Amino acid sequence: METKRTRIIAIDGPAGSGKSTTARLVARKLGFTYLDTGALYRAVTWLALHKNIDLSDEDTIAEAARQAHFEIDSATDKTRVMVDGRDISEAIRMQEISNNVSVVASYPKVRQLMVSLQRKLAAHADVVVEGRDIGTVVFPDADIKIFLTASVEARTQRRMAELREKGVEISFEELKRDLIERDRKDSERASSPLRKADDAIELDTTELSIEQQVDAIVEAFQAQHVA
Ligand code: DC
Repeated sequence: METKRTRIIAIDGPAGSGKSTTARLVARKLGFTYLDTGALYRAVTWLALHKNIDLSDEDTIAEAARQAHFEIDSATDKTRVMVDGRDISEAIRMQEISNNVSVVASYPKVRQLMVSLQRKLAAHADVVVEGRDIGTVVFPDADIKIFLTASVEARTQRRMAELREKGVEISFEELKRDLIERDRKDSERASSPLRKADDAIELDTTELSIEQQVDAIVEAFQAQHVA
């Protein structure tokens, strides 16, 4: 019996472009599963730090990731991430992880593992997958590709609000510097840099509310499926 191919909505963009909230809500609206791939790179970074692996040691980090069992559940409002049965959902959002994840995510051996894990995780249901290389590398044949952008000021504001909710106070200028630095590392790395796929729809969200972003993506997806 021929199995029906699942539908895939790929959402990429820089840090703070509203990807996570948007992807989660688009998934909810369409009844799709949501997959936050950044959480997986954060989980590998947590694993490396937890095991005291030198962060410049690509081989040992990749080997530790290969041996680990990752679970991710984004059905509720917060993504739950487990490594070898241990819940690290809160730990992966700490600043120490944010500061080190770009280097871990730059390693081709780590990316290779994560890409195959992401394809497995997305194989059984219709999904909204969010990250940096989803439309270009992980799912180049996704049903629809969205590339979210927003001014660096708007992105910094959003990150500040998110952190404030968690009780973390950080200055606007410091956060802006962090974002610019992370953008630079994510875009300039040799292996699968952050870049808009040629056939992606670019959506500048600087002036958009979350509802407007979500509606724009849902409409674009539905329009393609009617066409
Ligand atoms: O979206 P986020 O901030 O949780 O992502 C964490 C880091 O992981 C980010 O610096 C870039 C990296 N990442 C990646 O390289 N590829 C992805 N598909 C998702 C995230």
